[in-house]
Amino acid sequence: MPGERAGQPVIVITGAGSGLGRVTAGLVAGQGSTVVVLDVDLAAAQETVAELERSGAQASALQADVTDPAAVARAKDAVLAEHGRIDGLVNNAGILTKQVLLSETLEAWQRTLDINVTGYFLCLQAFGGAMADAGSGAIVNIASIGGTRPTIGAGAYCVSKAGVLALTRQAALELGPSGVRVNAVSPGFMKTAMTADRYAVSGLEERRAQMIPLRRIAPLEEVAGVVAFLLTPAAGYVNGEEIVVDGGFVHSTTANVPQPA
Ligand SMILES: NC(=O)c1ccc[n+]([C@@H]2O[C@H](COP(=O)([O-])OP(=O)(O)OC[C@H]3O[C@@H](n4cnc5c(N)ncnc54)[C@H](O)[C@@H]3O)[C@@H](O)[C@H]2O)c1
Repeated sequence: MPGERAGQPVIVITGAGSGLGRVTAGLVAGQGSTVVVLDVDLAAAQETVAELERSGAQASALQADVTDPAAVARAKDAVLAEHGRIDGLVNNAGILTKQVLLSETLEAWQRTLDINVTGYFLCLQAFGGAMADAGSGAIVNIASIGGTRPTIGAGAYCVSKAGVLALTRQAALELGPSGVRVNAVSPGFMKTAMTADRYAVSGLEERRAQMIPLRRIAPLEEVAGVVAFLLTPAAGYVNGEEIVVDGGFVHSTTANVPQPA
């Protein structure tokens, strides 16, 4: 595979102290990579690393707020100092603000864009820059079906995820010549800390599942599997793509159109 480097790959996963990032860390480690678990919550990152080490994987934890350029630069230096290389980045750390546009505060709007878009940009620049210097690598940006489908009550979030998709295409074009692929994965509905309050509502999971052709909320492993695949040489010619992993939900709008009996 052109640009592939020999030896054990080192993959940085942001927000891997929880949810999709933690499950992705497990799958990526299982593929034989060293995983760097980066999170603003150091205790959560260390818990993920302890889990990975119990299964015999190589992993390390780093504390950084992805919106802080100096912290991200320090994290990049720390990875290179400890592991000597960076082969992959999963931009996954994100927040969901639950408000309609007319009631959204400027503070929440800016915080959402800062973490979900600028945070991805800063990590892409730091870790992606190291990969470009080495002449190979892969970046997976976690977007959302909200990036192309507006969702009432998640305005800032959906705008931020549209930004992630644009960032993905832009970076694919600019980093491709350096051997670095950039793709996006857009999950549908998942049950994590981010959405726990919604699924605490009795019957909501079942009602949502009924709207999805596969009739179930996305298991984190089945989203993480696609992320892990995009990091491998098997996806070596995939660049600038969005892969939607939602059980077919975005294709289901006509299922709700009234039909004559
Ligand atoms: N949960 C869903 O239904 C859903 C659907 C589509 C997309 N997504 C996306 O999946 C990704 C992972 O979300 P999740 O559901 O696992 O959420 P989660 O809340 O379980 O995990 C998010 C992680 O990001 C970390 N984080 C937050 N802000 C940070 C910062 N400034 N710097 C560093 N780390 C930070 C948190 O500490 C946490 O560990 C996000 O990008 C999210 O938008 C989630």
